[in-house]
Amino acid sequence: MTVIYQAYVRSFADSDGDGVGDLPGLRSRLDHLQWLGVNVLWLSPTFPTPNVDWGYDVSHYHAVNPEYGELADLDGVIADARERGIDVWLDLVPNHTSDKHDWFTDRPEYYVWSPEIPNDWESVFTEGPAWHFDSRRGAYYMHQFAPQQPDLDWWNPDVRHEFERILRFWFDRGVAGLRIDVAHALVKDRELRDGVEHMRERPEVHDVYARWQEIAKEYEPKRMMMGETVVALEKLFAYWQHLDLPQNHEICKSNFELDELRPIVEEVERRVPDKTPVWFGSNHDHSRLATRWAQGDERKARAALFMLLTLRGYVILYQGDEIALTDGDVPEDCVLDIATPGRDPSRTPLPWTAAGEEWVDPWLPLTDTARNVEEQRADPESTLHYVRDLIARRKAFVNEPYRTLPSATGVWAYARGATTCVLNMTGVVVDHEGHTLQPWQGLIL
Ligand code: GLC
Repeated sequence: MTVIYQAYVRSFADSDGDGVGDLPGLRSRLDHLQWLGVNVLWLSPTFPTPNVDWGYDVSHYHAVNPEYGELADLDGVIADARERGIDVWLDLVPNHTSDKHDWFTDRPEYYVWSPEIPNDWESVFTEGPAWHFDSRRGAYYMHQFAPQQPDLDWWNPDVRHEFERILRFWFDRGVAGLRIDVAHALVKDRELRDGVEHMRERPEVHDVYARWQEIAKEYEPKRMMMGETVVALEKLFAYWQHLDLPQNHEICKSNFELDELRPIVEEVERRVPDKTPVWFGSNHDHSRLATRWAQGDERKARAALFMLLTLRGYVILYQGDEIALTDGDVPEDCVLDIATPGRDPSRTPLPWTAAGEEWVDPWLPLTDTARNVEEQRADPESTLHYVRDLIARRKAFVNEPYRTLPSATGVWAYARGATTCVLNMTGVVVDHEGHTLQPWQGLIL
């Protein structure tokens, strides 16, 4: 278990020509993931949703988004993936629900309320107060994201209980793990004090995961928990107490520069050498690595993939990373995201063919099919084959300790046990101990 593939379901594969990716479409493409060699498939939210935040506003936690299929389709994905040696992880959103969730009407005590705006907390999406007046109740509710995403009150034991039921519901169906949305933010300061440090990153959040970990351990194999922990590096280490994989966003947010990346890796290895890190360079919230890190240069994208796939621990490939897919071009009149700057360019459909005929009138434009799965599969020199080869080779050293090695300027050299990895982090040819490294070339010695 080491290579996680993040499928943004809406843009992965469409089975019925309505322009929206779906579970039968995904199921029909599992061979691609098996051929690539991934062992975990993380699905972006699959729950019913009004799509204000494209699935991150959940209106029902025990069901499947009808746009994507039925519960039976998800069961089918899980079963077929399992046959291919791939575990399915869902994307659970426990910080907030949709305002269309029944709870918001029937169980208002599940949410965070105040008779007046009580503090200076600001909403991530609107940049105004994180409080919205609800005329039905004559009070303000808290929303860390959009007003249509009210935050749950994690001090309420009933909320905790509901989520324990949700965990069991999906774990019982064979879901092997969870990616936990905004995992650092569930618990708010009980007194609603001023300061962003009271709105998120409260220490009490660890108690929630301690309990969830107990539930995860009731299952065989143990269910896995990966947190979307958007915190500074020095704050990240605490999350390993009860999460299996706290995501390290510092790497993803860095420039692709040796001086920025290597210290982060070294700090993680120094602080938690006995824990499992998880590395990634793209996801549905950030510009794709082939654009952000590599400016479209396929050699540089391969260098990024080399780094991710040769470090210790788990790695996440966001759909399209395997073909060095760049961001889509989304003209202003096609923008659908509520966030500014919009995240649509990293969510455009995955091109399976050069003709792109598999996407009929897609929900976001399919702008560039020059890099597509079919052609790269047929070309042994492609990035797709490069990634597949690296995934196969990493098995030999995936758990071996990381150690920085002395290296020529611009070269990142590290030992992984008895294996040596060298990566040219520059656009020029360099020599490293008798090896000539082409621009951005990585070698496993
Ligand atoms: C997480 C998701 C992001 C979403 C936000 C609010 O950061 O990754 O896409 O908008 O949570 O749910």
